[in-house]
Amino acid sequence: MTPTLETNRLCLQPLELADAAQIQMLFPHWEIVRFLAGRVPWPYPSDGAETYIRTMALPAIERGDEWHWTLRLKSEPAQIVGCINLMKAEYHNRGFWLGLPWQGQGLMSEACDAVTDYWFDKLKFPVLRVPKAIENPASRRISVRQGMRVIATEERQFVSGKLPAEIWELTADEWRSRKFR
Ligand SMILES: CC(C)(COP(=O)(O)OP(=O)(O)OC[C@H]1O[C@@H](n2cnc3c(N)ncnc32)[C@H](O)[C@@H]1OP(=O)(O)O)[C@@H](O)C(=O)NCCC(=O)NCCS
Repeated sequence: MTPTLETNRLCLQPLELADAAQIQMLFPHWEIVRFLAGRVPWPYPSDGAETYIRTMALPAIERGDEWHWTLRLKSEPAQIVGCINLMKAEYHNRGFWLGLPWQGQGLMSEACDAVTDYWFDKLKFPVLRVPKAIENPASRRISVRQGMRVIATEERQFVSGKLPAEIWELTADEWRSRKFR
């Protein structure tokens, strides 16, 4: 069972099929999808959120391979503002996006800290790795702020095409020593 998590301003609630309608309204914007993995369909179909949640996210959660949350402001908990997820994989363990009206306020930094704690402290994985387009400064800043390191650079397929990318890595020991410094 994926638990609800909290940060100063956010409530992270486990993803449900009922969230599809709100996600379908917020997610399909070029500014949001362009640096996401190339498997995200674009143009985004009118049932894209519902199909993704029902056929991919929920079965992966069931299998114990992925953990997904919707982000909501504590001040307006009925409104979804974005999503974040964790995944078992060698090089892609975390993904996130935030609706355009809520970007640039430090919200994803808060959400990332909460799920990174969950990855290391509750799920007990030894390392977290994420690929990022070099052209995506907001996402890279989150990695820098969390003390992650670049371990590889390679071309990867994003929604906007093949682009130079970096693989960022953080170990459980690095995360704990940073937290308790
Ligand atoms: C990446 C994303 C989630 C960041 O969310 P956010 O809540 O706006 O990010 P924050 O406000 O926490 O900012 C994180 C850092 O990026 C910086 N930043 C934010 N937007 C930026 C921009 N457009 N250009 C450069 N830096 C930016 C912030 O100043 C902050 O840096 P700091 O910690 O040094 O102050 C959001 O931009 C988004 O949804 N992008 C589209 C989806 C995406 O690219 N996901 C990641 C795929 S790897």
